[in-house]
Amino acid sequence: MKTACVILAAGEGKRMRTRVPKVMHEVCSEPMIYYPVRLAIQRGYRPVVVVTSNPGEAVRGFLTNRFGDRVRFAVQDPPRGTGHAVMSARGTLKGFSGKLVILYGDVPLLQAKDLAALEREGRQAAVAFLTCRLENPRGYGRVIRDEQGRAVRIVEQADAGASERRILEINAGIYLVRAPDIFTALKGVRSKNQQGEYYLTDLIEMARHKGQVVRAVQRKGSKELLGVNDRKELAEAHRQMSRRLIDRLMAKGVTIIDPQRTYLGPEVRIGKDTVIFPDCIIHKRVQIGSGCRIGPGAVIQDAKIESGAEIRPYSVLEDCRVGPGAQVGPFARLRPGTVLQAHARVGNFVEVKKTTLGPGSKANHLTYLGDTTLGAGVNVGAGTITCNYDGVNKHPTIIEDGVFIGSDTQLVAPVRVGKNAIIGAGTTVTTDVPADSLAVSRIPQKNIKGYAKRKRRNR
Ligand code: UD1
Ligand code: CA
Repeated sequence: MKTACVILAAGEGKRMRTRVPKVMHEVCSEPMIYYPVRLAIQRGYRPVVVVTSNPGEAVRGFLTNRFGDRVRFAVQDPPRGTGHAVMSARGTLKGFSGKLVILYGDVPLLQAKDLAALEREGRQAAVAFLTCRLENPRGYGRVIRDEQGRAVRIVEQADAGASERRILEINAGIYLVRAPDIFTALKGVRSKNQQGEYYLTDLIEMARHKGQVVRAVQRKGSKELLGVNDRKELAEAHRQMSRRLIDRLMAKGVTIIDPQRTYLGPEVRIGKDTVIFPDCIIHKRVQIGSGCRIGPGAVIQDAKIESGAEIRPYSVLEDCRVGPGAQVGPFARLRPGTVLQAHARVGNFVEVKKTTLGPGSKANHLTYLGDTTLGAGVNVGAGTITCNYDGVNKHPTIIEDGVFIGSDTQLVAPVRVGKNAIIGAGTTVTTDVPADSLAVSRIPQKNIKGYAKRKRRNR
């Protein structure tokens, strides 16, 4: 039978004290909501419906951009509790009559194995949900069990009496139910509680009253089920997620010198024997090959770095490719559209944008290359600038194989430098340079004898 999924993300996030939707706050550089949605998709749930508030453009925009039409949306306006939120998804799930997994958008650490346990142990139940025991259960709904140990209801922190508050078993907010029964049942939920909300958790007691089988599936680890309601929990979720991502990479043969000073996103892939030095931030879609050395202090996003490449200290890379054995930095900046082919080198204080450096080409010092194509074996001298922008349009520069560019050259684009040509230091190149020629443009030097000495004497 098919399983669908509803993910609740319409809450106001009051405890977060924020203007941004709570689920857009980031854990390891992805909005919290990314994690349950990805998990639901990976688990094969179809459709995956995310309930957002109105306006919920930020959430919808992000998810559509990331997951395309694998995610559908429902709007809950205004948010009146988790039960009401699930009800808002009814229209989107019209005609669906299978099992339904309900997740909360603020539980980013949840893992596939937790859902597997819920599916396995909740198979026969009308309603099943995940629980765990916490040393400090404050803020969570508590699970009330009868003498036989069967879950009979969930009581929210705000509604709990003193003895109920001492219960350590909490509701994780992850449910397995049946559609369309759930929508029928939710019609019976009332908002007579401390918060005046329609609680999804009332389902448990209602199912019990009807004599249905309710199954509370207790999980051992508690960290996975952490709900993020305030900034402290956000930091804790980040810490846990970060640790998980780093442990996974270390198990695959990546050296991470100082896990506590390394910040990685969930879509970062790194090959064997690559070493990550402290204080690197590597996030979004990044693929790093094997045997690379990265950092310290490198900031890398949306990049492909091939095996044996070296990203030296304090370099910043975005949306670019670094070929095998290439070297970047220290203190280099690769902006979007940069491609370094095999063994190319970009050194200190060099900025590169929308530019390809062919195999073995080098720009080692104080240079700007924009909208440029360099062939193989090109040497770009210190202080070279491509003047690619005329104030209105951007223009290309083409530098063919084997060219030598002397220091402090300006290349006024559009311009082409032919194969094996040499540009003398200090030249302003304004017209194409034919292959194998020398281009120099300098004001002839004057030496005025004794000038310096005279000047000193007059002081
Ligand atoms: C909820 C549970 C509690 C459980 C805890 C686990 C209820 C009533 N309580 O409490 O038993 O221990 O989660 O983390 O369900 N949301 C909406 N619309 C709303 C309200 C909330 O979409 O009207 C979404 C929120 O965006 C959030 C999720 O539902 O992602 C949970 O809401 P939240 O207010 O954080 O519930 P808790 O108080 O944490
Ligand atoms: Ca919560």
